[in-house]
Amino acid sequence: MKRSEWGSRVGFVLAAIGSAIGLGNIWRFPYLCYENGGGAFLIPYLVALFTAGIPLLILEFGVGHERIGSAPLAFRKIGKQWEWLGWWPLLFTMFGIVLYYSVVIAWCIDFLFYSVKLAWGADSEAFFFKQFLQVSSGPTEISTIRTPILFGLLAVWALTWVIIMRGVSKGVELANMIFMPLLFVLTLVLVFWSLNLEGSMTGIVAYLKPDFSKLMDPKVWVSAYGQIFFTLSLGFGIMITYASYMPEKSNMTGSALITALVNSGFSLISGFGVFSILGFMATTQNVPVDEVVKESIGLAFIVYPKAISMIGDFGPMFGMLFFLSLTVAGVSSAISIVEAFASGLEDKFSINRKMLATLLCFLGFTGGVIFTTNGGLFWLDIVDHFINNYGLVLAGILECIVVGWFFNLDQIRKHLNKVSKIQLGPWWNWIIKLFLPLSLSVILLNQLIRELTTAYGGYTWASLIGIGWSWIVITFLVAFILAAQPWRTENHLEKGRGDEL
Ligand code: PHE
Ligand code: NA
Repeated sequence: MKRSEWGSRVGFVLAAIGSAIGLGNIWRFPYLCYENGGGAFLIPYLVALFTAGIPLLILEFGVGHERIGSAPLAFRKIGKQWEWLGWWPLLFTMFGIVLYYSVVIAWCIDFLFYSVKLAWGADSEAFFFKQFLQVSSGPTEISTIRTPILFGLLAVWALTWVIIMRGVSKGVELANMIFMPLLFVLTLVLVFWSLNLEGSMTGIVAYLKPDFSKLMDPKVWVSAYGQIFFTLSLGFGIMITYASYMPEKSNMTGSALITALVNSGFSLISGFGVFSILGFMATTQNVPVDEVVKESIGLAFIVYPKAISMIGDFGPMFGMLFFLSLTVAGVSSAISIVEAFASGLEDKFSINRKMLATLLCFLGFTGGVIFTTNGGLFWLDIVDHFINNYGLVLAGILECIVVGWFFNLDQIRKHLNKVSKIQLGPWWNWIIKLFLPLSLSVILLNQLIRELTTAYGGYTWASLIGIGWSWIVITFLVAFILAAQPWRTENHLEKGRGDEL
């Protein structure tokens, strides 16, 4: 069977950007920046972008394009013993990140409707925790499913199902061709609107006022590297798959650069919008900005609603546009992992796409139900912590080691140079072979030591092991089981594009 292809390079780049730009750019980045030294945080962030983000994105694009395969197929073609490394990230992203990520998109859909009548009333915090989530006292205290969230979740997976079923070019590409321009317009409108609110500048100052002393704290650097992985969808197995749908002659390094720069630019600009709103609130209430800032989720679902109520006649409109933009950003990321997973199963087992779309979206929806319960917030917090701090970084280290040391990395580099405009020097090999495995291992160890000395988030060790560690271990085992199955196609016997060089 002929491999699916993107209809155009623009389609590919927009799809990659669609995966990269997501909830993380809007609810994670601005807060991270504020908390870790304001404008000074841009230094570790940019260092992480240029030393890890861009080189790894180029690696993932290169592996997918040169080996011509979804993550499992590409690693199978690198070596029989490495196929599991293609499955593992797909598993923990699809059955970890996306299960809760799609629930947060469901909240956005609910809040889009709540915006119409400013349903949160005077106390948006009580509304969010008590009425909307009905948060229980811990991860094991589960007594009810929140139906508004369940319906939102159903909408997310139904939309994803339709898009994935239509295939690469008529589904994923078309969706992103519509979603990305829409998202850019929505964001520009919201940011300009926010900048014009009274007091916006005090917010911007709080966002970017540099505190260089923070640069001495290793935690700040760890956060920067962690954010770069999450934000560029690196170590997910997605970018490998997306690159495999590109025809032979394609400027891959250029596409990686555009994707990375547009994604980070988008984060920075959304930060202006977010902090303008905070400045407006602080000014209206006559308090310092620090008093109105809340951590990531609280920012979108508590602080924003409150601000929307204060805007006046146009508040509902503002709220709807804001939650619509979050929904669009989120869905275009969620579809990317489902596509990557479907592609892996299609490559190996030759299952038809309609069946795959139905199976994966059904599993995604049912698996997400636990996060829609009144204990769901704790599950979300724990799974997010473990996958982001261990899953993604570990996958990144392993990718570098396997491709760098157990395969001819120069073949990937030469292939990229042959098809791309921007040429990679031999320095790139050393980043992949040495610098990244070493620096990322330092980060991983640093995290691990902190993990073992203090229980994350004050949870019991039983919940951390049962919900967090087990997620990593179980996906690991399932990856081995999938890799051990015999191939039902001959895709793995085909050559890579660089084999003739
Ligand atoms: N890159 C996305 C973000 O920043 C994260 C993501 C990608 C989540 C793909 C799920 C699937 O939000
Ligand atoms: Na992102």
